[in-house]
Amino acid sequence: MQIFLDTANLEQIREGVEWGIVDGVTTNPTLISKEEGSFQEIIKEICNVVSGPVSVECVCTQSQDIIKEARSHAKLAPNVVVKIPICREGLKATSVLSKENIKVNTTLVFSVNQALLAAKAGTRFVSPFIGRLDDRGHEGLDIADQIVTVLENYEMETEVIVASIRHPLHVTEAALIGADIATVPFSVLEKMLRHPLTDIGIDKFLKDWDKVKGR
Ligand code: G3P
Repeated sequence: MQIFLDTANLEQIREGVEWGIVDGVTTNPTLISKEEGSFQEIIKEICNVVSGPVSVECVCTQSQDIIKEARSHAKLAPNVVVKIPICREGLKATSVLSKENIKVNTTLVFSVNQALLAAKAGTRFVSPFIGRLDDRGHEGLDIADQIVTVLENYEMETEVIVASIRHPLHVTEAALIGADIATVPFSVLEKMLRHPLTDIGIDKFLKDWDKVKGR
């Protein structure tokens, strides 16, 4: 499974890249709003640091405007993927952009049918938001699992990005259902890495090493 970082924070992205585990990045307006600097500079710098896909969200609401905005985003760097919320106008834009080889990540997906429509319109990625479904009392992972199955049933090229991940178990579950990608906040990435038994083990080895003679 590929791991994308769900952040626009360059410090976190650089750290993740040093770990050697970042296959891509997803941003959205909320994540960009937390950072200093201009939108374009942030995206260009992320695209310099990460060679994989970097999702950049469109905020226009009419298809013709979304298409213009997406073309402009796509010019920022070769690895930009335009993120478009699933809706009538978004589908129209996706259909046009995919024919221009501009990759689309269809976002704010909460049902299998939304994912199916987006895939048929030519989207490269679909992003089911499992945490936000969990928040509403649904089993978000089940929707992601069904999306993976449906896309596999028809051998569609669209890849599933499990998004709105809130904790390490979400990442494990995404891998178990065979999702192509999990997009993970840096805080979750850190939790994936750490285990108290590892910390205790390292501490003990270091203390015991101090007792070894002739080092
Ligand atoms: O990529 C954005 C998505 O992961 C949103 O996550 O935590 O705001 O539901 P969250």
